[in-house]
Amino acid sequence: EKGGYDHFMLKEIYEQPKAIRDTLAGRIKDGIVDLSQDLSFTKEDLKRFDKIHFVACGTAYHAGLIGKSVVEKLTRIPVEVDVASEYRYRDPIITPSTLVIVVSQSGETADTLAAMREAKKAGAKVLGITNVVGSSVAREADEVLMTWAGPEIAVASTKAYTSQLIAIYLFGLYLARVVGTSTESQLAEATRALLELPGQAEEQLENPEPIRRFAESIAKHEDLFFIGRGLDHAVVLEGSLKLKEISYIHSDAYAAGELKHGTLALIEEGIPVIALATQQPVFDKMVSNIIEVKARGAHILGLGLEGDQELGKSVDEVITIPKTLPLLTPPLAVIPLQLLAYYASVARGHNVDKPRNLAKSVTVE
Ligand code: BG6
Repeated sequence: EKGGYDHFMLKEIYEQPKAIRDTLAGRIKDGIVDLSQDLSFTKEDLKRFDKIHFVACGTAYHAGLIGKSVVEKLTRIPVEVDVASEYRYRDPIITPSTLVIVVSQSGETADTLAAMREAKKAGAKVLGITNVVGSSVAREADEVLMTWAGPEIAVASTKAYTSQLIAIYLFGLYLARVVGTSTESQLAEATRALLELPGQAEEQLENPEPIRRFAESIAKHEDLFFIGRGLDHAVVLEGSLKLKEISYIHSDAYAAGELKHGTLALIEEGIPVIALATQQPVFDKMVSNIIEVKARGAHILGLGLEGDQELGKSVDEVITIPKTLPLLTPPLAVIPLQLLAYYASVARGHNVDKPRNLAKSVTVE
């Protein structure tokens, strides 16, 4: 049942190229994203939305954080992201022209369902992104965009997250075309790059050795840092959560430029820092932040784009991801972080697939 893998988590990490491919399948025609088979929104419906709220929990919330950057960039519609357990109680501004996107692998998370019902009651349209046909989200949302990741057994979510990202890209590109905020050539370029992701994810999975070695080197630590800017910050939040959930190593995920306004004092000699630097527009800024932690003796794993000659100069070890557009790096960049969490958990002898105190789907508030 584990298909030759030691754990479901590893199997599911390796299923990501397929999960991405399946989530893309049938939704791009002649180089154009077409969700008209999935969604019954009319063009007029889509044009009416003046704000979008992503609402979710845990890893799905982290997908929502990526969703904010992606959808705002492509559509220029303001986007907010909330954890579902907070959303309902903060009196969010919801009007009939608000689109609420709930993201839930299981489609059964109690906090997410409660937030979804509240949003509907307040008159919003709800789009559900879920992995389970017939789940409460699938049944109750006004519109549903399925992720086709297949069953996810390991408690720590991997392929569901990457598939959620793909669903978000698809929706962002679809909406952008209707609202006319991106040029046809920008959309075509992004759509082409999207189609390359399954093959690139495969490439990314070919040689896990360097990340396994780094994971073993951090296994004796109790604290470490992840840093990144822009989309990389959203990705390190997920990487940090994954590591905490299954290896029980504490970590903080900082927006790299914020460290100096906060806990830079905790960067001491030998502390591991994982620095994501895939975002070309802020690359130089990121390198300055890396130098700040290097000066304090951190042991740095840099994660950058293939072909990048610069990053290696300021970090101790480098792992690269295949080149893609800045907007599309998250599903590739998260893979080494998932593997890092996995191998660290294995090295520490923990129950990878069933970490303590966590459930796959939390159906109570
Ligand atoms: C948590 C799980 O309780 O629920 C996380 O442990 C998951 O892994 C979160 O991301 C949200 O779950 P779902 O099914 O709503 O995506």
